[in-house]
Amino acid sequence: MFEKKFLYKTKKGKAIVGDSLELMKSIPDNSINLVMTSPPFALQRPKEYGNKEQADYIDWILDFTKEVKRIIAEDGSFVIDLGGAYQKGSPIRSLYNFRLLIRMCDEQGWNLAEEFYWHNPAKLPSPIEWVNKRKIRAKDSVNTVWWLSKSAFPKADVKKVLTEYSDRMKKLIENSEKYYTPKKRPSGHDISDSFGNDNGGAIPSNLLQIPNTESNSQYLRYCKELNIQGHPARFPAKLPEFFIKFLTDEDDTVLDIFAGSNTTGWVAEQLDRQWLAFESDHQYLAASAFRFLDYRPSKNISEHYNDLLSRTNLQADIEEFRKQLIAFEPTTHYASTFANRTKLIKDQSLQKSLHTNARTDKK
Ligand SMILES: C[S@@+](CC[C@H](N)C(=O)[O-])C[C@H]1O[C@@H](n2cnc3c(N)ncnc32)[C@H](O)[C@@H]1O
Repeated sequence: MFEKKFLYKTKKGKAIVGDSLELMKSIPDNSINLVMTSPPFALQRPKEYGNKEQADYIDWILDFTKEVKRIIAEDGSFVIDLGGAYQKGSPIRSLYNFRLLIRMCDEQGWNLAEEFYWHNPAKLPSPIEWVNKRKIRAKDSVNTVWWLSKSAFPKADVKKVLTEYSDRMKKLIENSEKYYTPKKRPSGHDISDSFGNDNGGAIPSNLLQIPNTESNSQYLRYCKELNIQGHPARFPAKLPEFFIKFLTDEDDTVLDIFAGSNTTGWVAEQLDRQWLAFESDHQYLAASAFRFLDYRPSKNISEHYNDLLSRTNLQADIEEFRKQLIAFEPTTHYASTFANRTKLIKDQSLQKSLHTNARTDKK
């Protein structure tokens, strides 16, 4: 698939510039295990990454979801992250994310496997008018994340996404006799003494608490190095990580149809999944290649970036880029951090060797 059409490839995936509605047409039926995506949101203020007006947003996106339904495997999943919005000029919420969900299920036959909520505690208060100025609304820091499937039993294994036990549960596991006596709950639910067993972690809830605070990633460092702006609407890596681990196995294929800075592809690569990334903005996708390069200040990085910008189907091999990068003595802020760190390591090893020599001298 996409043998000649890709902008860059890695060991596990390919990133392709284009309209995903068109690109999906080249994908055979029932062949993708997970589509994980975050579309341009139906916000009021037009963003630079192309928002549709709320009214025609749902119709627009339904064309994509119909095609997604054709290409995902029978036991595959579709996870779509949708930020909330207000109606134009009014402190009344838009229902677009709920309307989209209902229309997908009613008109296209999707099943809602489970609704998730992504809470970003680091979200800044907005919209300014209702939250900051008039103080009549609370800050909106939760996105709806719909997990949809073709069948009632999409592939899923919650054991792959267990979370850390609470302190109370840890104590209970250590000494269940002291902290817990098996009994029936008022609901009649029988909680047996196996409740104190250590299953390697707690079952996660459908409220995902993930701050979106990436500020020092390799992607952003390279963007800064080249003086280009990072993608303005990235989701945190932990969001696709959760669903990729939960809903796919190694070597399964994950597709992001609105890839932006290709967070999904990068996470899929780390987790040994095959991936495809579709993005209509050539510049965003070119910069997303930075995610796959080892970060060290490199002399010829702008050369590679310009190559990526020169053609939408460059067929660049990121492994090759990585090999060709020439490290150089840094000058920027990040680079000087790098220089200081190198100096520190040098100083530490110097002190260590002096120390060892001193001890050897005493003998
Ligand atoms: C919310 S952003 C996705 C950000 C991404 N999750 C990340 O972490 O970087 C949505 C992206 O969809 C892209 N887009 C909009 N319409 C598209 C289309 N028809 N085909 C492919 N990409 C499209 C926009 O350029 C934008 O980068």
